[in-house]
Amino acid sequence: MPALRIVVGSDDAGFDYKEIIKKDLEAHGSVASVADVGVGADGHTHYPTIATAAAEIVARGEADRAILFCGTGLGVAIAANKVKGIRAVTAHDSFSVERSILSNNAQVLCMGQRVVGIEQARRNVREWLSYEFDEESASNGKVQEICSYEGA
Ligand code: RB5
Repeated sequence: MPALRIVVGSDDAGFDYKEIIKKDLEAHGSVASVADVGVGADGHTHYPTIATAAAEIVARGEADRAILFCGTGLGVAIAANKVKGIRAVTAHDSFSVERSILSNNAQVLCMGQRVVGIEQARRNVREWLSYEFDEESASNGKVQEICSYEGA
């Protein structure tokens, strides 16, 4: 799999995790680039603005995937999914993280800083980086049904 271009983002409730994961990504051999859409250390931009900005970058093809944090990982997923062509999931466990790529070809992984421990979050990201969707798999037809419904 080619090295991945990744976008990270969070609101203030996910900022600490976003910063830690950003450093992990920058040091990871499978990551080509990391773009940060905020918030900054003293930022209070609401999660919908951050999540849609990140998702639009992926939808335009300027990045391959995004990782988003908020308090729960829920709001950022809801907002990112409003961007056409984006499949965003909230996943805090290893199996869901795996299936988000292998079953759903989701480009956006969302987690909640108030939900999951940082070491599990870091592990989830490491594992997420190792998975690649197989377009020849039986899952692709189901993903294509989502795309057709959306008109993407
Ligand atoms: C805080 O605004 C909190 O509601 C937010 O971070 C997120 O958890 C929403 O889904």
